[in-house]
Amino acid sequence: MAELVQRYLDQILADHVSSTDGALADYIPELARVDPDGFGLSLSLADGYVYESGDPTIEFTIQSVSKPFTYALALERIGRDAVDAKIGVEPSGEAFNVISVDEATKTPMNPMINAGAIAAVSLIPGATADERFNQIHEFYSACAGRQLAVDDDVYSSEKVTGSRNRAIAYMLQSFGVLDGDPDEILDVYVRQCSIKVTTTDLARMAATLARGGVEAVEERRVASAEVVQRTLSVMVTCGMYDAAGDWVSAVGMPAKSGVGGGIAAVLPGQLGIGVYSPRLDSKGNSVRGVEVCRALSANLGLHFLSVTRESRSTIRHTYDASPGVRVYELHGDLLFTGAEQVLRTLDQECGEFDVAILELSRIDDIDDAARRMLAGMRQSLSAAGKEGFVVDPDDVLRVTQQTYARVFGTLDEALNAARAHRAGSDG
Ligand code: DON
Repeated sequence: MAELVQRYLDQILADHVSSTDGALADYIPELARVDPDGFGLSLSLADGYVYESGDPTIEFTIQSVSKPFTYALALERIGRDAVDAKIGVEPSGEAFNVISVDEATKTPMNPMINAGAIAAVSLIPGATADERFNQIHEFYSACAGRQLAVDDDVYSSEKVTGSRNRAIAYMLQSFGVLDGDPDEILDVYVRQCSIKVTTTDLARMAATLARGGVEAVEERRVASAEVVQRTLSVMVTCGMYDAAGDWVSAVGMPAKSGVGGGIAAVLPGQLGIGVYSPRLDSKGNSVRGVEVCRALSANLGLHFLSVTRESRSTIRHTYDASPGVRVYELHGDLLFTGAEQVLRTLDQECGEFDVAILELSRIDDIDDAARRMLAGMRQSLSAAGKEGFVVDPDDVLRVTQQTYARVFGTLDEALNAARAHRAGSDG
């Protein structure tokens, strides 16, 4: 069956292989002399399985695709308030290398433009440039699930051509945004942009974000869910620079592009995409990369705002195990809407049972909102003169002493208690 997906991806690449629109970045010789026809696509599913199409072995520099990852690392290291004090989250609608700050706060508009990315580097704690860079390097490698390397030639070239970035860094210093020596911070920024990746790496890095911060190969948490949520938010609004609106409408995935020709795109909870083609449009985004993402989104239905299934599916099966004892088997991910639906169903049906048993052993994931709602279920039922039990062998509800819920490890135990309750000997 997997070939079917493979064929889909190969077809999408084939549909765009002949497009030669756009131009290579030429501000440094290393980028100007790459093979303009290089083309690769990788798609990493949440379980770590990676599909590849075109040439996924081509190494290119990560460039601005680095920005969300350094921002995430800064959030991890010093917390949201400290980061927010120095970098905004408003789309600038301007080019990536604009020399500007927010009029009112005098801080960079967002972390996806160079000003914000340079500020993010300065927020990574470290006494020296090497200390800062090593953390960044380790973090990217952890997200990719392998040790990444730096392209020394790109690094040297970027260092001597970075006048505009130097202007940005000194401007930030003058506004008190940069802690530390601007040249040292720029050195780290340039080194982070010069890290080499393949589309497989980008797909895996994107998948780590898609998985809420857990890398799939080692199954290691590298960032908290809150940090990832914030990072993806700025990728949605600012990741594709002045093309952000068009990107969100047409592709609908948090993403980041780089002048090396790479794009990483994230479908939260589902997958990560890495695509490479080095000819760029006037905004610095890979032309074929954008086209491929558009096609993937349209053909595979990946837009993050497409409204798919209703939460009706939370209740997998309902049956009466014995007179007056109704079992509700729940499954899938239980969030607010799913829990709400369970409670409302119990409300509607409570005239038909004496005891309701919620069977949670097939629940994949549950959030705190749903936990609180289900833990309160017994209390609401008792107001109607009914009893409610829960079967929760994996302790997904994390019932504490304070919760009123009555929890059993197996359905049989819950059924025995339910029957005893009906027979009036519940103890
Ligand atoms: O800051 C720079 O100029 C580059 N090294 C990286 C910029 C970049 O990738 C912009 N993205 N499209």
